[in-house]
Amino acid sequence: MNTQILKVDPKHPEIEKIRIAADILKNGGLVAFPTETVYGLGGNAEDSGASKAIYAAKGRPSDNPLIVHICDYSQLEHISKNLPPEAKKLSDAFWPGPMTLIVNKNEVIPHETTGGLDTVAVRFPSHPVANALIRESGCMIAAPSANTSGRPSPTKAEHVIHDLNGKIDAIIDGGPVQIGLESTIVDLTEEVPTILRPGYINKQMLESVVGEVKVDPGILGTENVHVRPKAPGMRYKHYAPKGDLKIVSGEDDKVIAKINELAREGAEAGKKVGIIATEETKGLYHNGTVISIGDRTDEYQIAHNLFDVLRRMDEIGAEVIYSEEFSTPKIGNAIMNRLLKAAAHQVIEV
Ligand code: TXA
Ligand code: MG
Repeated sequence: MNTQILKVDPKHPEIEKIRIAADILKNGGLVAFPTETVYGLGGNAEDSGASKAIYAAKGRPSDNPLIVHICDYSQLEHISKNLPPEAKKLSDAFWPGPMTLIVNKNEVIPHETTGGLDTVAVRFPSHPVANALIRESGCMIAAPSANTSGRPSPTKAEHVIHDLNGKIDAIIDGGPVQIGLESTIVDLTEEVPTILRPGYINKQMLESVVGEVKVDPGILGTENVHVRPKAPGMRYKHYAPKGDLKIVSGEDDKVIAKINELAREGAEAGKKVGIIATEETKGLYHNGTVISIGDRTDEYQIAHNLFDVLRRMDEIGAEVIYSEEFSTPKIGNAIMNRLLKAAAHQVIEV
């Protein structure tokens, strides 16, 4: 299949190009498009054939449900039942934006889109391209992240082209995304709103709107690796670079010393070593290829660069990768959730 690349102005997307993509969606085809979090691989959410094609293009297990992207709150009401009051409160506060709500579904969205579940994930993105595409197509758009299943989520059009060129009808290139980590998923089908996947909208921000919020024990990290996460997608090994990634955790000086020791051992064993460091620390390593994830004082920059850095480790052919830890105050939970998954929870404490 020939994949059309449609380059658009991300802030003011050209309507002729959006119409080309919208027509593809109306006809059951697939279009990758930028959102403020990561690129999505979209199809008409009401068309079970389009959902099946999304799973096929990504190589994704069909029990892993898709997120339905909307451009108006009334569409949430249209596809759900028994909406709790928190839905309105949270969407007033954070939509359009990087938050996905899990609610009970009615019959509008087919089970092919929801991986067989009776609940549906819904998000109203803020990115002008995503909005224009949903509006112009007249479709609610089912979209997972536009990566091959198991690869880091795409934060640039080049990542999507790498994974999906030739497999889908079109890719809208709107440049790099803003946030770089997928949306916060909040389950509203439990007694207390529960975070199933951490993201830019953190627990404190949610609690300031709805009071108590829980975190799915299945995603809490190293101590809980044996608890099954509720979001099917959080159960799979994910975001993994091809090399063996380990996180080194502890005081800065000790971390740097340990990574230097491990990198030297790796180099001596003839391995291609990659190191994930920051602007402040990148000059302190003596072996391996060092890639900076950004400035230590700018946690949003670290979030923005994480998936790109993991992909670059593949490009340089890193066989073993050592990363510093990035437990920053606001988006740090989301960063470490992705990094720990990429490392299959291998952490070296120093
Ligand atoms: O930021 C994002 O959310 C991006 C952009 C494109 O919107 N999308 C995204 O989709 O990350 P995806 O498919 O890569 O991740 C969706 C996650 C998966 O972990 C899936 O299992 C979970 O949402 N999910 C979807 N529907 C669900 C449901 N009904 N119940 C529980 N988890 C659900
Ligand atoms: Mg994904």
